[in-house]
Amino acid sequence: MLIRPRRSRVSAWMRDMVAETSLSAKDLILPVFIREDDSVSEQTSMPGVRRHKVAELPALAREAAGLGIPALAIFPVLDGAKRTPNGDYGRTDVLACEAIRAIKSAGVNIGVITDVAMDRYTSHGQDGLVRDGRILNDESVELLAEMALAHAEAGADIVAPSDMMDGRIEAIRRTLDAAGHEHVGILSYSAKYASALYGPFRDAVNSSSGLATGPGANGKKTYFLDIRNRAEAVREAHLDETEGADILMVKPGSYFLDVILTLAQNSKLPVFAYQVSGEYAMMRAAEAAGWASYDALLIESLLGFKRAGAKGIFTYGALDAARLLQGK
Ligand code: PBG
Repeated sequence: MLIRPRRSRVSAWMRDMVAETSLSAKDLILPVFIREDDSVSEQTSMPGVRRHKVAELPALAREAAGLGIPALAIFPVLDGAKRTPNGDYGRTDVLACEAIRAIKSAGVNIGVITDVAMDRYTSHGQDGLVRDGRILNDESVELLAEMALAHAEAGADIVAPSDMMDGRIEAIRRTLDAAGHEHVGILSYSAKYASALYGPFRDAVNSSSGLATGPGANGKKTYFLDIRNRAEAVREAHLDETEGADILMVKPGSYFLDVILTLAQNSKLPVFAYQVSGEYAMMRAAEAAGWASYDALLIESLLGFKRAGAKGIFTYGALDAARLLQGK
């Protein structure tokens, strides 16, 4: 035998020397749930994940920046009573704006990425306005652009529309530019699939109750991508690129690694992955059952995203992974 591939695996230093992929805290973005002061902090379907008060955010920003995490992605959680059929709270998105300012007040080198979507403000939990059981596109896009502008005015660095309405990237880009926010970036959820993996997130932001029976019931499949498709993701990514997106996102991550790889090969833009709530919950559940190590699953899954070509990863395990990578 002349060729023995095992030679390159024989010791730890050798494996390090020839490793094709690396993972560092710089690859990780921490999603953060923000709550109003009097609402509950615990989130039972996502062990280890809390909803933070605005006042806690400067300390969290310092901790994350200290570990080398480049950005926080914020998700406000609103009291049920403030949600309306038309999601009007989203036009000003006061809680998000307070959170942005609180993170910026920490004075550390960390970016703020905001979620531009209506599902946490509509009483039915859809990402758009609903009329006669249908989710309206163009009217919803107007509201989303208004929300993105509010975030930019409060100091957001990047706005991230996660709704999948047609034409929203161009509308948001034009709205931001017209108001002098041409430096604010757009991270587009280009390939957001109608997935079964968002359940714990919907528990966390209280958006699940009306989804199956309320107005626009089961409407998510009319805007999120069909899980059977990949070419459709390429088409959406191309559109977002021409409409002015700066970063593309694939969501969920681990069941869609083929899509990450395809977009990374087809686009000149950086491609990010979102390891969503259901992916996180399954790793925690496997550990709780004694079937696997959360730490090991976390690192292996994040490396998988990197191998597929993701430049950045949204993960609820960002702090855990950053600590593990530091050997702490
Ligand atoms: C809002 C939004 C969702 C997630 C991120 N932004 C939920 C949804 O579309 O229902 C899910 C993230 C996760 O599951 O971790 N549109």
